[in-house]
Amino acid sequence: MREKPIGIFDSGVGGLTVAHAIKQILPGESLIYFGDTAHLPYGDKSEESIRYYSEKITEFLIGHNSKAVLIACNSASASAYDHLKDKFGGKIILLDVIDPVVEFLSGRNFGRIGVIGTKRTISSGTYEHKIMKKSSKTTVVSLATPLLVPMIEEGFIFDDISNAIIRTYLSNPLLSEIEALILGCTHYPIIKNQISKYFNFSVEVVDSARIVSLALKEVLERNNLLNPSAAGQDIFYVSDYTDYFERIARMFFERDINLQKADIWT
Ligand code: DGL
Repeated sequence: MREKPIGIFDSGVGGLTVAHAIKQILPGESLIYFGDTAHLPYGDKSEESIRYYSEKITEFLIGHNSKAVLIACNSASASAYDHLKDKFGGKIILLDVIDPVVEFLSGRNFGRIGVIGTKRTISSGTYEHKIMKKSSKTTVVSLATPLLVPMIEEGFIFDDISNAIIRTYLSNPLLSEIEALILGCTHYPIIKNQISKYFNFSVEVVDSARIVSLALKEVLERNNLLNPSAAGQDIFYVSDYTDYFERIARMFFERDINLQKADIWT
């Protein structure tokens, strides 16, 4: 059981930010990654569709022997985590990307926190709701930033176009006077430096990748499921093949990756 892989999924390249952090914190673990590129972006989809996709992908990851499944997508965490817990909770360790961040922030006493994310994540109100439940003195303001995922998936990063889009969103008066900004989408760590720079590094930009990886380590440890053997093999599946996915994955892991197309929808 301990040598089995950790299943992880997202709509596209976003979850790679989490996969990369897991490999840094738990280098002995093998990953099985699923990027649902055929249905990207999730942020525009209905809750019902995201639940359906998430359920099928979780079945796929369990069918490929995962010892735990991590929802490395905020839109799916906001829309489908409870549903997946009902469906698979007793059978497998299941983690999302929102709860560990809420837990992390609860010890920090911020007065005003901003959240940016997809339309699905922001309209769900999940972050506000969960943060305010834990820390009633914190004000949470949220802003949907739907252009950021297609921008990143199209490779517009560290350039004038992305700077203009980021500036336009972050200059929204709603975000004035925030002390911290949650990157409520796993794609956004890819542009974390551009975001920090916009705020002249005076706002703490909270990215879930490391926080979630530490939560995963803790839960595996608690269940005696950490892989004791040497570095495992990682495998990446996409539901639709794109060059860009392979390029970004290679950039993250600094090596060739084992990438395969898995058609789980027919
Ligand atoms: N990376 C995802 C998230 O955290 C999905 C973005 C999308 O597909 O719209 O929300």
